[in-house]
Amino acid sequence: MSELSVDHLLGIKYLNKADIELIFDTADHFKEVINRPIKKVPSLRDITIANLFFENSTRTKLSFELAEKRLSADVLNFSSAQSSVKKGETLIDTVNNILSMKVDMVVMRHPNPGAGVFLSKHVKASIINAGDGAHEHPTQALLDSYSIRERLGSVRGKKVVIVGDILHSRVALSNIFALQLQGAEVMVCGPKTLIPKYIDQLGVNVETNLKTALNWCDVANMLRVQNERMEVSYFPTTREYTQQFGVNKALLDALDKDIVIMHPGPINRGVEITSDVADSNHSIILDQVQNGVAIRMAVIYLLAAKIKQ
Ligand code: CP
Repeated sequence: MSELSVDHLLGIKYLNKADIELIFDTADHFKEVINRPIKKVPSLRDITIANLFFENSTRTKLSFELAEKRLSADVLNFSSAQSSVKKGETLIDTVNNILSMKVDMVVMRHPNPGAGVFLSKHVKASIINAGDGAHEHPTQALLDSYSIRERLGSVRGKKVVIVGDILHSRVALSNIFALQLQGAEVMVCGPKTLIPKYIDQLGVNVETNLKTALNWCDVANMLRVQNERMEVSYFPTTREYTQQFGVNKALLDALDKDIVIMHPGPINRGVEITSDVADSNHSIILDQVQNGVAIRMAVIYLLAAKIKQ
């Protein structure tokens, strides 16, 4: 297979295993490109991409912009805070105005789950979901699996625990779909209040004891507690959360094996992860960020190939 089965990247749940393999093979090529002295290829000189961020971002926004520039695309950056959205313009009007400037592809982060799907039904452009509320963050899950493959040789057969605020996490849902498609076994671990009731239907193991989870896994993906999505308290205090669900060096030293530690960022040092773990050889956190550029180049390149058909 040399093309994606989809015209948009709206979520991992719309992809199949061959799509993920194609994205990874293409990312392998672009990873080699971005390590050359001249880190740019002319592939997308005829493509214009708008990055629409209706919610804060550091890694995803910069990573998409860099990926687009490395592919020689023309890039427009839009942030809702400085836009006419504040004057009451609708999402479709905003995007259609941008598209009338001959834009081919839209990368969008939005606080509302399903915003990307909605947009893909109303505008003529290829849409990439850069995170929609607590729903999906597909490029994050792709770069996470790619980084596991890079460190451990493959994703198939690996045991991955996702720790923390599963309830409010788009990273958790996209990772569960991506890891299962590739044959990994997935566990979620956190306070019962932060594990969604529907989780059993996703075929994952559930654990509320972090030590048990760390003993079980090959990889622990530590999530941030998403206070900005919480209207009520889900645990007594941050200190107690850290005591029960924070990873620290003593916990890792007590294991009879080495495990890989991941985090999508931004990190709350001293809450879900201590600095001596985040900055240790166990951690592949900065590899994840670096791989994000190659993965996003691959996704953009493969979707652009479908626009050109
Ligand atoms: N991992 C991630 O999505 O980070 P940002 O919110 O900084 O983009």
